[in-house]
Amino acid sequence: MCGIVGYVGTRPATEMVFNGLKKLEYRGYDSAGIATIQNGEIAVRRDEGKLRNLETMLAESPINGQIAIGHTRWATHGEPSRRNAHPHTDESGTVAIIQNGIVENYLPLKQELEARDHQFQSDTDTEVIVHLIDENLRGGDDFVTACRRAFGKIRGSHAIVALSKLEPDKMVTVRLGNAGGVTLGVGDGEMFLASDMPAILEHTRKMIFLEDGEMAVITAAGVEFSRLDGTPIQKKITEVAWDPVSAEKGEFRHFMQKEIAEQARSLTDTIGTRIDFASGEVHLPELNLSAADARDIRRMVITACGTSAYAALVGKFMIESLAKIPVEVDYASEFRYREPVIDEHTLLLAISQSGETADTLAAMDEAKKRGARLISIVNVQGSMAERISDGVILMHTGPEIGVASTKAFTASLVDQLLLAMALGQMRGTLGAAESESLAQALLALPAQAGNVLADGNDFDAIVNRYHQREHFLYLGRGINYPIALEGALKLKEISYIHAEGYPAGEMKHGPIALIDEQMPVVAIALRDSVYEKMVSQIEQVKARNGTVIALATEGDTRTAALADHVLTVPETHPLVSPVLAVLPLQQLAYHMAVRRGNDVDQPRNLAKSVTVE
Ligand code: AGP
Repeated sequence: MCGIVGYVGTRPATEMVFNGLKKLEYRGYDSAGIATIQNGEIAVRRDEGKLRNLETMLAESPINGQIAIGHTRWATHGEPSRRNAHPHTDESGTVAIIQNGIVENYLPLKQELEARDHQFQSDTDTEVIVHLIDENLRGGDDFVTACRRAFGKIRGSHAIVALSKLEPDKMVTVRLGNAGGVTLGVGDGEMFLASDMPAILEHTRKMIFLEDGEMAVITAAGVEFSRLDGTPIQKKITEVAWDPVSAEKGEFRHFMQKEIAEQARSLTDTIGTRIDFASGEVHLPELNLSAADARDIRRMVITACGTSAYAALVGKFMIESLAKIPVEVDYASEFRYREPVIDEHTLLLAISQSGETADTLAAMDEAKKRGARLISIVNVQGSMAERISDGVILMHTGPEIGVASTKAFTASLVDQLLLAMALGQMRGTLGAAESESLAQALLALPAQAGNVLADGNDFDAIVNRYHQREHFLYLGRGINYPIALEGALKLKEISYIHAEGYPAGEMKHGPIALIDEQMPVVAIALRDSVYEKMVSQIEQVKARNGTVIALATEGDTRTAALADHVLTVPETHPLVSPVLAVLPLQQLAYHMAVRRGNDVDQPRNLAKSVTVE
């Protein structure tokens, strides 16, 4: 998705914005640009490709000022090119804007503007906005009014930032819908703006988050907020906990490598003080759910996308087992378009690392309209998902920069277990003994994860032998069937190998026809209630000359003897086992992708947060 950065203050604005854009590179983009106001005129530098192209351009032809806006574009309308890169200006160079989102009614607006002799310089939908603002200025509006009226004419979800040489001390920004956030950073005599906090975290932790339909007029001295209709509003400053270091790579080669490695810490942080390890009692005050509310729940729907949707499939097992609430899991992109049966007795749980995924936000809106109580498990503090929820569980993993989600996934598993325990305790379906057993498993979990991740497993032989294979099959059963799906997603999204996750029990209904010497089969066969079934599955694959990479419980010599390769994790409570099971699969995907020379942190075609449909 597009990245947005703005600065106004006493420091070199172009440099401040450029450095902010570099911290957003992980979002995935195909062009970039910056606008500033220099000697009373708007100056723009923009180019196709990565930021290094823009850096070269700025070195050859510098632009400097004390206010600037910058953008990394992920093309939706108009191919990646210099002419389509943001910022866009009107013909006279009076206004410059950057935008994240899609102007759904840009075509009729463009036709009307061209009929009034506006000259368009790009193929983008975005450019209609700058011409609308310019037209209002020519009609006598001041800059803020000109923006407000222009923003009122466009449909769709947007985050927009505008500059004008007529009032060179201010930036005007608006958030419309869910096309990605607008976060303001409060400095001392300077102000910052970004679509994501890592872009400005090194300068301030005082953040203000725009809601849907809110505008801000920003100068070095401060900011004034209003609704799109002009009604003034007050906004609170949130002191965020994230520190700049945690958003950097440190000694790791990739953000994904760092984020896999730091899961012992992120699991510790997400558990936090939410459970009393002695009694097993769980406290989730930010959930805003009383025992009476919990007892009133008749069913749950968990909705999410991608990796978060696979986490939801694990959560179903946890919640049905401990809270005895029927749970339905649905992809958010599907949920929002079917006629879901939702009422005031339905609890909707949304899982989203970014808290900005368009499909997930739309599904939440749909459920809210039908009377459901909304709770969410999110990582990004201040994200839209958090703000529209009735209650929230923050993952507290720190920024997850790698596009392929790892530490957020395991955090969301633990957070769902804590939720299941809390619901079970409030509904009287979870006894003290089981609570204590789970608490002890959670107490041991971070250290166990740390041991698994300290390269307790040898991936070299597997990667050397299979890194050029074209197909992989991942098999799991019970609570670890979703881990087979997640392991396959990790491999395909960063190594680009076709990998499919499948319920092991379904193999005999067709997919076993695929088994041959060429397609390695990763089989999750932990010592749990379906262990014997999985061992039998491994034997069936071997009987057809298949290759098996088994994921087994430490000490399981029987599975090790059957499989061609074995990865191991320590024993734990069955409901906690998915958290450990996924770790070697994350590492396997990472090592395979590195061996294939791929861009692990920014895989082709992918974005960290999909804020458009
Ligand atoms: C996960 O590795 C992918 N990057 C993707 O499937 C992601 O999980 C999905 O887009 C949902 O993102 P969210 O958790 O931020 O909503």
